[in-house]
Amino acid sequence: MAAGGRAPELRVLLCLGALLARWVTAGLEAVVIGEVHENVTLQCGNISGSSVLVTWYRNDSEPVFLLSSNSSLPPAGPRYSLVNTSSLYIRDLSLQDEGNYTCQEVLSDTRSFPVWLQVAGGPYQIEVNISTTGALPNGTLYAAKGSQVDFSCTSSARPSPTIEWWFQAYSNPELFEKNLTVNNFTLMGMSQNLQGNYTCLATNPLSRRQRKVTTELLVYSPPPSPPQCSAETSPESPALQLICRWDGGYPDPDFLWTAEPGGVIVGDSKLGLEVLNESQLSDGKKFRCVGNHIVGPESGASCAVQIRSPTLLTEPMKTCFVGGNVTLTCQVSGAYPLAKIQWLRNLTQPEAVIQPNSRYLITQNGQSSTLTILNCSQDLHEGYYVCRAENPVGVRGVDIWLSVKEPVNIGGILGTIISLLLLGLATISGLMLYYSPAFCWKGSTFRGRDMGDVMVLVDSEEEEEEEEEEKEDAAEEEEEETHEREELPKEVRKHGHIHRVTALVNGNLEQMGNGLWDLQEDNSEQQSDIVQEDDRPI
Ligand SMILES: *[C@@H]1O[C@H](CO)[C@@H](O)[C@H](O)[C@H]1NC(C)=O
Ligand SMILES: *[C@@H]1O[C@H](CO)[C@@H](O)[C@H](O)[C@H]1NC(C)=O
Ligand SMILES: *[C@@H]1O[C@H](CO)[C@@H](O)[C@H](O)[C@H]1NC(C)=O
Ligand SMILES: *[C@@H]1O[C@H](CO)[C@@H](O)[C@H](O)[C@H]1NC(C)=O
Ligand SMILES: *[C@@H]1O[C@H](CO)[C@@H](O)[C@H](O)[C@H]1NC(C)=O
Ligand SMILES: *[C@@H]1O[C@H](CO)[C@@H](O)[C@H](O)[C@H]1NC(C)=O
Ligand SMILES: *[C@@H]1O[C@H](CO)[C@@H](O)[C@H](O)[C@H]1NC(C)=O
Ligand SMILES: *[C@@H]1O[C@H](CO)[C@@H](O)[C@H](O)[C@H]1NC(C)=O
Ligand SMILES: *[C@@H]1O[C@H](CO)[C@@H](O)[C@H](O)[C@H]1NC(C)=O
Ligand SMILES: *[C@@H]1O[C@H](CO)[C@@H](O)[C@H](O)[C@H]1NC(C)=O
Ligand SMILES: *[C@@H]1O[C@H](CO)[C@@H](O)[C@H](O)[C@H]1NC(C)=O
Ligand SMILES: *[C@@H]1O[C@H](CO)[C@@H](O)[C@H](O)[C@H]1NC(C)=O
Repeated sequence: MAAGGRAPELRVLLCLGALLARWVTAGLEAVVIGEVHENVTLQCGNISGSSVLVTWYRNDSEPVFLLSSNSSLPPAGPRYSLVNTSSLYIRDLSLQDEGNYTCQEVLSDTRSFPVWLQVAGGPYQIEVNISTTGALPNGTLYAAKGSQVDFSCTSSARPSPTIEWWFQAYSNPELFEKNLTVNNFTLMGMSQNLQGNYTCLATNPLSRRQRKVTTELLVYSPPPSPPQCSAETSPESPALQLICRWDGGYPDPDFLWTAEPGGVIVGDSKLGLEVLNESQLSDGKKFRCVGNHIVGPESGASCAVQIRSPTLLTEPMKTCFVGGNVTLTCQVSGAYPLAKIQWLRNLTQPEAVIQPNSRYLITQNGQSSTLTILNCSQDLHEGYYVCRAENPVGVRGVDIWLSVKEPVNIGGILGTIISLLLLGLATISGLMLYYSPAFCWKGSTFRGRDMGDVMVLVDSEEEEEEEEEEKEDAAEEEEEETHEREELPKEVRKHGHIHRVTALVNGNLEQMGNGLWDLQEDNSEQQSDIVQEDDRPI
């Protein structure tokens, strides 16, 4: 406008010099821009303050008188008034006021000054439409990562506005190289760095008036992999902690833990952590975690854990020579969460947990623990050792009998005699069984002399309900060659629990039912003897 204003000024001087009555030619008129509902002043040429007669016309098809400085002529309407003796002041503009105006001044001669009034309106209301996945309760829009989003912006103005889109990313403020001067555009494959504020800016080309609407758009993504469930022993208490992890999504998902079957709700949280106390736990109980993400699967994604009390596997007895070393092994299986394994001495005594020291070495490898007793002594070391495994679901304990012997084997001779006696007894029992097979149901078995030596205790403890004290027998045998002593304690009571212990002999256990053993030897000779004895070894 500054450059445009200079040209008519030069022309004025030229025209005056040439004494031209009308110096107005096309393109030389002043252009004034007003806005709807605003007021505007149209100046009459470059006259200021001179007391001449000025008349304003509106030139459309034919000139229409508006107002004159001759106060005896009233103005054409109340909106018109004269300011600074020659300027036309129009209040409360409307679009109809747009047009060409002429001011005529009568001095020595008559001169006309045209003024082109342009009236701009708006931009008015901006309509922004963003096709997204959804809107949050607070109105913020979100789109799923990878989706396509269409943006459109419309606004009305007179003359029609220029529309420009402008993006402010949270991360990278200069993502759009330049502002997009389009009404509509589409973003394919939304990504995290397209999250931010999208501003639609409408500009009136005449008045330069602007209006904008800023829309915040979040780009959400569900976690890439399925949720992971786990259970842990709570660090501070013996409680159980259920942990559900479903990472990598934005925003964070919600978690719901339920107990199965039945779907009883255990907890509902943003963290996916639930602490369960003892009353809510039982062996084999299953818990399910359902993760819900705003742009994740509709029914959520789930995982489950099954909690289990520990099961113990250990040798029932061990022998150590005086001054020697012996290693007791205890293998825990099935425990979930992982069990804490401890070694104890004789449960009837105060439950002193064996601490590793110069005489006891304890090593744990996964869910297997070994206790090594160094420098065995009969007084100190002979007796029961207890391997105890505990997790929040349950506690199990199994006895291991350790006998400490003199290296010179006097007992071996005695053992031979006992073996022979037992063999005799076995033969008699075998005969009895031959005539009365049902007898074998009463008790346990006697192991054949020439059977293998591997004996493994399998602890298959049942719950406390099984309170009836039923003492089952142990088959035992001493073998001179190995000087090994083995025993089969069938049930041992401790902690008020009953441990039913079954023995696997020679790995040849084919069948087991109600304590009945079918032992099959290679020569297919079936041998089944009954010995009623105390738990105590010889
Ligand atoms: C226009 O002029 C009138 C009276 O002179 C005044 O009341 C009004 O506020 C003005 N409007 C604007 C937008 O300046
Ligand atoms: C009007 O004339 C004066 C001097 O007479 C000059 O300073 C001024 O710039 C002129 N204005 C216009 C709009 O031509
Ligand atoms: C506008 O009207 C005036 C007065 O009648 C006349 O002198 C002038 O030529 C007209 N101008 C245009 C551009 O029509
Ligand atoms: C003002 O207008 C009146 C009525 O039309 C007229 O009589 C009078 O001469 C005019 N005055 C001037 C100074 O032109
Ligand atoms: C009248 O003239 C004075 C000085 O030239 C100026 O400041 C003022 O804005 C003018 N008034 C109008 C309504 O144009
Ligand atoms: C005003 O005059 C100019 C030329 O002088 C013309 O281009 C324009 O269309 C006119 N405006 C109106 C509203 O008649
Ligand atoms: C709306 O809520 C979302 C998520 O809680 C938040 O990120 C966003 O800033 C909120 N927007 C407004 C305008 O409060
Ligand atoms: C986006 O807009 C909201 C409010 O409209 C503001 O709080 C936020 O700071 C803006 N973000 C950016 C990156 O400009
Ligand atoms: C885009 O438009 C905004 C608002 O008018 C402006 O602040 C910004 O500088 C523009 N950016 C570019 C790259 O033109
Ligand atoms: C164990 O949890 C149940 C249910 O949440 C509650 O009623 C009970 O009081 C809790 N018991 C203890 C010892 O915290
Ligand atoms: C018992 O173990 C200790 C330590 O490992 C070792 O020094 C010692 O020789 C072992 N004793 C026998 C009899 O093997
Ligand atoms: C446990 O220790 C007590 C006292 O030392 C003893 O009387 C009892 O026989 C021991 N029991 C077992 C099973 O070793």
